[in-house]
Amino acid sequence: MRPTRTALCAAAALLASLTSFSAHAQASGPIKIGLMLPYSGTYAALGNAIENGFKLYVQEQGGKLGGREIQYFKVDDESEPSKGTDNVNKLIKRDNVDVLVGTVHSGVALAMAKAAKDNNTLLVIPNAGADAITGAMCSANIVRSSFSNWQPGYAMGVVAAQKGVKRAMTITWNYAAGAESTKGFTEGLEKGGGKVIKDLNLPFPGVEFQALLTEIAAQKPDAVYAFFAGGGAVKFVKDYAAAGLNKTIPLYGPGFLTDGTLEAQGASAQNMLTTLHYADDLNTPKNNAFRKAYALAYKAQPDVYAVQGYDAAQILGAGLKAAGGDLGKRDVLTAAMHKTVVDSPRGKFTISPAGNPVQDIYLREVKGNNNEFRSIAVKSLSDPARGCKL
Ligand code: PHB
Repeated sequence: MRPTRTALCAAAALLASLTSFSAHAQASGPIKIGLMLPYSGTYAALGNAIENGFKLYVQEQGGKLGGREIQYFKVDDESEPSKGTDNVNKLIKRDNVDVLVGTVHSGVALAMAKAAKDNNTLLVIPNAGADAITGAMCSANIVRSSFSNWQPGYAMGVVAAQKGVKRAMTITWNYAAGAESTKGFTEGLEKGGGKVIKDLNLPFPGVEFQALLTEIAAQKPDAVYAFFAGGGAVKFVKDYAAAGLNKTIPLYGPGFLTDGTLEAQGASAQNMLTTLHYADDLNTPKNNAFRKAYALAYKAQPDVYAVQGYDAAQILGAGLKAAGGDLGKRDVLTAAMHKTVVDSPRGKFTISPAGNPVQDIYLREVKGNNNEFRSIAVKSLSDPARGCKL
């Protein structure tokens, strides 16, 4: 017997409802989290610290968020923007994850943000500072637990001006994060009456610094502002000291220049001043407990990336708790993620309507293997969120 047209329509409708249920709105079983991070290349250590921090928070909640078990899927994005869309689609389309968590590199994160918007997938960003993600591309479904590239850069510019810097140079990798970080620095410095006389750059993730260091020596600026991170930051700080420049021209930067890198940088980084939303020695119950738990779990000291991973899980946890673990209650979930006050090892912070942390930026000084707190460079700094319309 052939099925009737009505029976076929009913079967199609049932299939459609089952498919959309499995794609979006499960209220039981594990929540699938797609970790897209660099596990190789110059930012590999950063990716691992973020994953460790994220998992530490989940473990502290008994392995659950919003009452639901967590299942992880992982992709190594290699900090390679040209592979960004393919890599994120492995998680969205192949693994059918409920939530994306990633990444470190701004260029890759821009591809992730576009895919998250196109597919209506939740995205929590545990590092990449691309200004546009919480600016022109902002979305209720995207929240960042870290910073915008503008934030620490602007704060360092304010501090440099206070220290009397009139003529500065900047040096960085030629991609979104470097460009935006140095732009933030320039804005802060100019506000205080200084100026940037020259911006130097090289392709990511290159470490051929010699010609550029020679140019710095020739120009003799009052200070240099550098954005590098991970393996590249280790090499740059060492080369700067080896060229003898640190004796006459202070090297400033966002804290990425000396975070997670100090053991490898050794003497070359001592006494450096940087600005960031975290300092190792913040003597608060929350930071002390976090550092102890992290050291116990991973036999390593945490850094800012570990903190951002931990807080990414806290923010997602706040959303899932409000929604009773039901991913179908998307509006409740995202509203709670934006409204939460995050009890972070860095200190309590809030999330702006555009989805970026509103946070104190600290001035830190390198002592031994620690970035020690010196003062609050800028209090409750909010990214300008240029172009964000929600
Ligand atoms: C970025 O690409 O946005 C980025 C990468 C590494 C950092 C900070 C920002 O440490």
